[in-house]
Amino acid sequence: MTTKGRRAVLDDSVISRRTLSGLPRRTQQAGLQGRMEMLILVPQRKGRTMDTRIDEVAAGIYRISTFVPEVAAPAGFTFNQFLVLGQEPLLFHCGHRRMFPLVSAALARVLPPERLRWISFGHIEADECGAMNEWLRIAPHATIAHGAIASRVSLDDMADRAPRTLADGEVLDIGGKRLRYLDTPHVPHGWEAGVLFEETSETLLCGDLFTHPGNGPSVTQADVVGPAMVAEDTFGYSSLTPTTGPTIRRLAGLAPRTLAVMHGSSYAGDCGQALRDLADRYDQRIRAALGS
Ligand SMILES: [Fe+2]
Ligand SMILES: [Fe+2]
Repeated sequence: MTTKGRRAVLDDSVISRRTLSGLPRRTQQAGLQGRMEMLILVPQRKGRTMDTRIDEVAAGIYRISTFVPEVAAPAGFTFNQFLVLGQEPLLFHCGHRRMFPLVSAALARVLPPERLRWISFGHIEADECGAMNEWLRIAPHATIAHGAIASRVSLDDMADRAPRTLADGEVLDIGGKRLRYLDTPHVPHGWEAGVLFEETSETLLCGDLFTHPGNGPSVTQADVVGPAMVAEDTFGYSSLTPTTGPTIRRLAGLAPRTLAVMHGSSYAGDCGQALRDLADRYDQRIRAALGS
């Protein structure tokens, strides 16, 4: 199903570039300045229109996508949430607080928001979970589900209701859909990082992995590894450690049919191979950085 995209206006939201004049001197050095400008990813307080569209990217999994031309210009950048329609519907990624009116209105075209029962996201960051308490307010029966590190370090304090803590490998059965939680510490970033694998549709909700700019189709079979490496060069968003490659190869072992990507198109090619290729490319970068 495709729900026709609708242009909406947030009362005070726009992505804008800010000058670096107030940043510490070392962040203004050559090379860092460009990257810091690209990292202005939070909607700012100015009126501007943005488009949000909804597409079904796998059976019962809906991608809510907001395109923001000002981020990573001239290509622009998408911020995606995924609605998993089980008997107890789950939302993966909350979006920024400032995008909440837009995203919640979009979700309501598929499901009354008060019917949400589960909320989850990859890690603690504004685009992943900035609006979690807004969702908890309009969905009074919803519970946040995340791994032990996220729950104990952050969510027990940040979330307005106590989270449900998921063990690594634990399956959350939401009725008609089964979501396996997997710890991915520091992949792509954040101590508490994790992903969900929806087993009935074999869809990996892979968060920031495979991030790429632009406003492509909701689902693509084109290469997603090359564009992810370009985005890596632009943003430098991944923590590269000795466990990066093995963590991504563990996800390849799930043999997903679809990769639900938070920033960019979802992918419906050979997902296992794409994950192995991504792991290899990160390993190459680590070896190059170490001069080995
Ligand atoms: Fe992130
Ligand atoms: Fe993200």
